[in-house]
Amino acid sequence: MKCFILIGLIGLGWVVAILGASCTVSNYYDVSTAAETCDTLIIGDLVIPAETTLEINLKDGAKLIFDGHLTHEVAEWTGDLVHIKGKNVEISGTANHLLDGLGPQHWKGAGESTILRPKFMRIQVEDSTVKDLNIKNCPNNCVVLSKSTNLLVTNINIDNYDGYPGVIGANYAKNTDGFDVAGGSGIRVENSVVINQDDCVAVNGGSNMVFENLHCNGSHGLSFSIKNGDVSDIQFLNSKVEYSNNVIHIKTHNDGDTGSIKNVLYKNIEFTGIDKFAISIQENYPSGDAKANIPITNLTLTNIQGTMTGSNSMALQIVCAQGGCADWHFTDVSVSGAKKSNTCQEVPSGISC
Ligand SMILES: *[C@@H]1O[C@H](CO)[C@@H](O)[C@H](O)[C@H]1NC(C)=O
Ligand SMILES: *[C@@H]1O[C@H](CO)[C@@H](O)[C@H](O)[C@H]1NC(C)=O
Repeated sequence: MKCFILIGLIGLGWVVAILGASCTVSNYYDVSTAAETCDTLIIGDLVIPAETTLEINLKDGAKLIFDGHLTHEVAEWTGDLVHIKGKNVEISGTANHLLDGLGPQHWKGAGESTILRPKFMRIQVEDSTVKDLNIKNCPNNCVVLSKSTNLLVTNINIDNYDGYPGVIGANYAKNTDGFDVAGGSGIRVENSVVINQDDCVAVNGGSNMVFENLHCNGSHGLSFSIKNGDVSDIQFLNSKVEYSNNVIHIKTHNDGDTGSIKNVLYKNIEFTGIDKFAISIQENYPSGDAKANIPITNLTLTNIQGTMTGSNSMALQIVCAQGGCADWHFTDVSVSGAKKSNTCQEVPSGISC
């Protein structure tokens, strides 16, 4: 560990101020001490040992900069490879860095369900920024934003292209969600590209979030998956979804607890090459009858335009429980090329299905 510490002697007596201590770390075992002491922590080439989480608990106000090839020893397990915590921190990458999940060594294509795979990165911060990161080949979920508040995430490039069936043979990827948002509030994710094999964004809880100018390719769409709790004021704006199963997917778990989803806006979403549902809103996930345990109210879709492909394509699936969906507003929703007719159950008044 190299540390450059500038010591200033200020005023009367011995007041020692440590200003701008900057440390570069390339060994897993040096990270925790460096994170405790350094105002700028630079992670160079680094290999995370097998079945281990790289815990980075940043000092308040610190900068964390990835400046090398970060990877790990491959093992079958289900933890997080990287877990970053902090307040008022800035997390970024240089032109030199790559966060490499070594997905091809984890993915098993059709045999996936029997294989344990770690999530790549969990970020749990307050009043912070995450920017300019290149993330490649996540073994499982890519970025989990865990109960963060007042967080800006910008210019993140998630490239799981190798996980498409056929790109590297039979061992394609599954469950490689781009961004999972597990609670929190005041979160903005913008100007990012996600090429993957599951949800581009999955909101699992929280409030006051904006997802804007995202480019999703290969995904399962801009989604909600809610098991319990009140979720509100979430917006998806000015984004593109391509070669994906779905564009908009809102699911509530009929085997979950109680909760609600309200004040949700999808605006200016373009799409192409969608082969399952352009819009799917279901209160019967994972299966069976729809239940109104988590009502979906004040949902607005405006200027949602694009084309579908393939024989299983359906423009609109609405599976609501009785009394489970109300106060929906769809304007300028235009889907072309769907081959199957819509599924419509307990559709709220004013919506044509
Ligand atoms: C999106 O995915 C398709 C394959 O599904 C691929 O042909 C295309 O190049 C991808 N586009 C980008 C921008 O990566
Ligand atoms: C409904 O949601 C929109 C956002 O789509 C919000 O601006 C509006 O205030 C909400 N209405 C109510 C009554 O909360």
